[in-house]
Amino acid sequence: LPIAAGALILGYLLGSIPFGLLLTRAAGLGDIRSIGSGNIGATNVLRTGNKKLAAATLLLDALKATVAALIGWHFFGSEAGLLAGFAAFLGHLYPVWLGFKGGKGVATYIGTLLGTAPWMVLVFAVIWLTIAKLSKYSSLAALVATLVIPVVLWFIQEPKIAIVMAIMTVISWVKHKTNIERLIAGTESKIGSKG
Ligand code: G3P
Repeated sequence: LPIAAGALILGYLLGSIPFGLLLTRAAGLGDIRSIGSGNIGATNVLRTGNKKLAAATLLLDALKATVAALIGWHFFGSEAGLLAGFAAFLGHLYPVWLGFKGGKGVATYIGTLLGTAPWMVLVFAVIWLTIAKLSKYSSLAALVATLVIPVVLWFIQEPKIAIVMAIMTVISWVKHKTNIERLIAGTESKIGSKG
């Protein structure tokens, strides 16, 4: 048990590094939490107009969960890897450094998949890109992709990963509450717009 606890703590700490906040601050763009949706994730970093910074945020926020999952897996096995990825996701959503007010967990969701069921990243990407192209809503694309992933994992006989990802889906959906309200009201901002 103390072994698994180590993987969880490490995962949480890695996950709690708010790359979107740090990169935009370093680039002199101010506090990302006072821009657009106020979220610390890549979608909101894109609203600053800096595509490279948004891409870097997506990559680093994803990879922190992948690294956590791979470290957990390497030292303690596949289940610890999965839990470490989950812990990184929680660290991103509830970072102690930001008064537990973090992001919505889409990048860390993808990063956890990359570290535990890498082919699923392809499935996620196809769904996300399709919905994003059709609707221009980043949030809707993520909401649909995170809904489909646990179902696919279940059908390909990966029940443990399916259950943990399903829990992450529920938590991420709760974090997208205001996005869902805006989608229903027709006021959600589209990819490429600064709102
Ligand atoms: O799923 C993308 C989500 O992070 C939306 O971000 O900034 O539009 O709330 P934002």
